[in-house]
Amino acid sequence: MSVVVFPFRTEDHQVAIDNITTAAGHHRVDNVVCVGFEREATYEAIDRAIPNIESSTGTEVSLILQERIGSLRPGKGDGMNTALRFFLQRSDSDRIHFYDTDITSFTAEWIDKAEAAADGGYDVVRHYFPRSSTDAMITWMITRTGFAIMSPESELPLIEQPLGGELLFTRRAVERLVADERVRAQSDWGIDTLYTFATVHYGFSVAETYIPRGKIHKMYGSLTDLQTMLVECFAAIQSLRGLSMPTGTRHDVERPAGVPPGVKQTVAYDVEETIQLLAADWTPGQESLLALFPPAVRDGMLESRIYPRFSYMDDRAWFETYAVLLDHFRKNDPDWEALLFKLWIARVLQYTISDALRGYDHALAHLQEMIDRYRMLAR
Ligand code: LAC
Repeated sequence: MSVVVFPFRTEDHQVAIDNITTAAGHHRVDNVVCVGFEREATYEAIDRAIPNIESSTGTEVSLILQERIGSLRPGKGDGMNTALRFFLQRSDSDRIHFYDTDITSFTAEWIDKAEAAADGGYDVVRHYFPRSSTDAMITWMITRTGFAIMSPESELPLIEQPLGGELLFTRRAVERLVADERVRAQSDWGIDTLYTFATVHYGFSVAETYIPRGKIHKMYGSLTDLQTMLVECFAAIQSLRGLSMPTGTRHDVERPAGVPPGVKQTVAYDVEETIQLLAADWTPGQESLLALFPPAVRDGMLESRIYPRFSYMDDRAWFETYAVLLDHFRKNDPDWEALLFKLWIARVLQYTISDALRGYDHALAHLQEMIDRYRMLAR
C-alpha cells in the first residue's frame, strides 16, 4: 500500500480538499498526509473536511505541520522531509507519493500511473507533463543546464523535469534520502534538485511517466515572482559540484503523447514587465562583478542599465556565463543574487525572442538540443 502526501501553504481550499479526497479514494492508498507550513485558513479548512473524507473513503487522512529539519530558509524542503520522516516512523506502507496541492487537473490516474511504474520494479517514479515553451525557465536554464555541465555522462541531465514535485519513492529510496545530510539540510526550494540528485547519486532506477493533460495550476506574473526560487535552485546545484555520479543507472522515459493546444499557446510570463527588470536596481557592486564574465556578456549587461538588451545571451554565452556563476556566485550576497537574476532574465528573454517566438515545436526541440550540446561541451 501507499501513502500520498500533499505539502501546502495557502491554497484554494476546495482544490486542496478535492485532491485529498481523490487520493484517499484510491484503492492503493492507506494514508493521505497533508503537511502544512503553518496553522492558517487552508490548514483549518482541511482539518474541518477530514472527518467527511475519512468516512466517505475509509482511508486515514493525517494533517501535520512541517518540522524544522533543515538549515536553510524554512520552506518546501522542510515540508517534504517532514513527510518522509513521518512515512518511516508512522507507516508501514511500501511507497510514498507527492503531489502539489494546487493542481486542478489532478485525478486518480496520476496515482495509477505511478503505481504501475513502481510495480515494474523502479525505485523512483517521476511524473512529467507538457509545459508551455516559456514556462519551466528555471528547469531548463538553471537545473538541466547545471546538471549537463556538472554531470554530462550521468542520467542527471536527462531527467525531464528535475524540479517536478509529483513523484513516488519506494521505502528503500526514502531510507537513503532521510539518511543523507545534504538532503535533510535543504529546507528551501532546492529540495527538488536534491531529491533528483540523490536519486541518481545513489543509483536508484527511475521511471518517468507522462501525464498528457498537464499540470494545471497557478501561474506567475513577471519573473520577479521567481527570484527566490531561482537563487535557491541555483545555490542547490552549486552545492553539488564535485560529487560523484554513477553512469548507466536504469532510467526509462515514457514517450510524450500529444500536447494540449492550451499548453502550446500559453505565454507563461509577462514579457513587457520582465524586460524592464533588466534596467532596474543596478548597484556599483553588481557592475564590478560583471568584470568576471565574458566581454560580450559584460558589455551587454552594462548597456542594459540604460536600455534593456539581451541578444548577446545565446546558448554559448549562457554556457560560459553559467561556468562563471558556478565558480563565483555567493548566496546571501545581495549583489550576486540580483546579478544572477538579471543574467537569467537576459537568457530567458533571448531564448523567448529567438526561439519561443518560432512556435512550440521549434522551441522545445531547441531546448532539448541545447542540453545535448552542453553535455558535449562539458565532457
Ligand atoms: C520551473 C519553474 C519556474 O520549472 O516552475 O522552471
